[in-house]
Amino acid sequence: MAAAVKSLRLRSGAKINLGLAVGGRRPDGYHELVTLYQTIDLWDELSIARSPRRGVRVSCSDRSVPRDGTNLVARAHAALDAATGRLPGVAVHIEKRIPAGGGLGGGSGNAAAALVGLDRMFGLQLGIARLAAIGASLGSDVPLFLAGGLSLGLGRGERVVPLPDLARRRWVVLANPGQHVATPEVFARLARARRRGLTPPDTAGTIFALLLERGMGGESLSALENDLALPARELVFGYDRLVTQLRDCGAELAVLSGSGATVFGLFGSGRVARAAARSVVADRVDVVRTVSRRDYWKRLLPVGEPRDGPEGPAA
Ligand code: C5P
Repeated sequence: MAAAVKSLRLRSGAKINLGLAVGGRRPDGYHELVTLYQTIDLWDELSIARSPRRGVRVSCSDRSVPRDGTNLVARAHAALDAATGRLPGVAVHIEKRIPAGGGLGGGSGNAAAALVGLDRMFGLQLGIARLAAIGASLGSDVPLFLAGGLSLGLGRGERVVPLPDLARRRWVVLANPGQHVATPEVFARLARARRRGLTPPDTAGTIFALLLERGMGGESLSALENDLALPARELVFGYDRLVTQLRDCGAELAVLSGSGATVFGLFGSGRVARAAARSVVADRVDVVRTVSRRDYWKRLLPVGEPRDGPEGPAA
């Protein structure tokens, strides 16, 4: 296996869950999900450089992100190494702009970008389906970043069905309370509430109804919900206040993303979204846009061209 490229820079994306239905707990401990993923215009940047040392060295601009073998980029390299026999060593630097542990899938996006980048760098040509299967072994949210745009997530979230893009791009106000919420804890709290007799809303039904309505030209997202909002609001500081503020500012939908702690509001106009961002009180507030599948891939793939150019024909 000869490397065609010595170094590569890629962007790595973020997502929101426009809707998220949590079903039963499976024997493997995961919950059945039905979710609508949407990629957004917020990016980390990955610089991958070939290294004479075996394995992978990870550095990151955010000190709260682990740099050891548990980092999803390191795990992506190890998984590709196992799948291909022997992968050359690399050093990867992650420039973080997506808040870590915020329900925006930043770490999963890093893993997906690393899979795409390493595949390209070493001319592996594994194809998206194989990369998505490897990605699924790293985390439930990794395969969605190998689809991009709007997609339906099934199974534990790793079975991804790409959907036609939203008819209108939306503006998204991301309000991050600066907290790390542990995903297993949020799922466990929901399961406890259900055992105590909580009747779950028919969130999956709402998602499927929306998908059918889209086929007939409708696209109102306002009825969507996130089942994890119920347990997360006990953990996310000021959750109800954030949702109310975003709704009062005219959000079409205001809800938790993933298992939190980020709360987002969807807006049809940039002016209204920016005004909402000014009035929302949170640790960090970003205004971004939804990203279509085509734009997602245009933005993800190498930033500039490979810096060292082709090294010769790939073996
Ligand atoms: O797959 P991932 O690493 O993203 O999942 C993190 C944790 O979230 C799992 O260990 C599990 O506790 C919880 N989870 C779940 N059901 C899912 C996805 C995640 O219970 N469908």
